[in-house]
Amino acid sequence: MKPTTLNISFSKDINKRSYDIQIGTNLLANAGLILRKFIENRKVIVIHDNYFSLNENDNEYFYKFAKSIEANCKNIFFISVRGGDKTKNIIEFNEIIEKMLSFEIDRESLVIAFGGGVVGDIAGFASSVVLRGINFIQVPTTLLSQVDSSVGGKTGINSKMGKNLIGAFHQPLVVISDINILESLPKREFYAGLAEVIKYGLINDIDFFEWLEKECEQILIYNPSKLQTIITKSCEIKAEIVKNDEKEIGQRALLNLGHTFAHAIEYFGNYDGRIIHGEAVSIGICLAFKFSSFLGLCDDTDTKRVITLFNRFKLPTSVKGFKKLHLSSTEMMERFKFDKKNKRNQLTFILNNSIGKSFIHNNVDVENLTQFLDKEINA
Ligand SMILES: NC(=O)c1ccc[n+]([C@@H]2O[C@H](COP(=O)([O-])OP(=O)(O)OC[C@H]3O[C@@H](n4cnc5c(N)ncnc54)[C@H](O)[C@@H]3O)[C@@H](O)[C@H]2O)c1
Ligand SMILES: [Zn+2]
Repeated sequence: MKPTTLNISFSKDINKRSYDIQIGTNLLANAGLILRKFIENRKVIVIHDNYFSLNENDNEYFYKFAKSIEANCKNIFFISVRGGDKTKNIIEFNEIIEKMLSFEIDRESLVIAFGGGVVGDIAGFASSVVLRGINFIQVPTTLLSQVDSSVGGKTGINSKMGKNLIGAFHQPLVVISDINILESLPKREFYAGLAEVIKYGLINDIDFFEWLEKECEQILIYNPSKLQTIITKSCEIKAEIVKNDEKEIGQRALLNLGHTFAHAIEYFGNYDGRIIHGEAVSIGICLAFKFSSFLGLCDDTDTKRVITLFNRFKLPTSVKGFKKLHLSSTEMMERFKFDKKNKRNQLTFILNNSIGKSFIHNNVDVENLTQFLDKEINA
């Protein structure tokens, strides 16, 4: 299978910044060559998920990746970071920064984030602030990070007040997504990534949504060419939106479909693994569709069709199955106040008129939302 290379270019930027996203198989063993121009004669700090180690018998892809980088760069350091959202906090962040500085890095040093969305977010954020910002590269190793978090430059950590409330926009120099690395990914994490994939179809591409309906079984058995297609298509849709609105002044907020609900749900899960991001997104998108239908904005048949696809991809679709999180509608309403999309005390939600037609609703009626949540959560 030939790899695909996408380019994301910020057309409105006077410096005409752009970077490549490479998607394919057998990329990691050649990473040193692919990245040579970025790593030669520099200090490189590989911040990696602690699932991976330098032991040859553990994970051949990480081992080969590290060897290939070492062959093209003499000065390489490693920092191991625990996967899972609990890691995205200010204490772990501080430890990473102090370790980086202990390697006597300079402004030409480079970070490679090797892991899922958690490693990408925290390593990217560390790169954005250390020495007032150094370059970084994303090597995503979960489906979720390959289709979403490694692209677009959002980096950050969680606060006690909520998810991703501390962070920076910091674009990577390049993204390398090797499908082979997904072989070891637990199934639950694979399904979670699919939630973000379905999201893209729902936002603005009904053809992609229908393709997912058709290819569901093949995707679930990891057909490599289907995986390459979903990663490529997801990155294309995301890149198109991000390049026109890098800092989320407007349309980029559409990528947040389901996330206002999801972030609130994750908050109640205390980031301890009872519910993971993609699962919360799946429930959150179903809630966004149900709420759209509740307001009379979206046909019920569309909402049912969306829920059916999430179910087929083995994802949770209702908050009721997660009673162990002790959710209540009143507490959910409290969490919404912390959402980054809100402006001037008005609640903003991404809602849908139909499959493939999301829009930004800037002034959601609190009464309506409360009634809806009472019905969905407390009933
Ligand atoms: N920056 C963005 O634009 C953006 C977008 C979407 C999500 N996110 C963030 O991404 C995070 C979720 O990312 P995630 O789902 O990748 O979670 P994660 O990084 O926690 O990885 C999930 C689990 O898989 C393990 N793992 C990683 N790669 C593996 C592999 N190849 N084989 C076996 N195990 C592996 C990790 O150790 C972890 O236990 C959330 O914090 C979310 O907020 C950010
Ligand atoms: Zn997400």
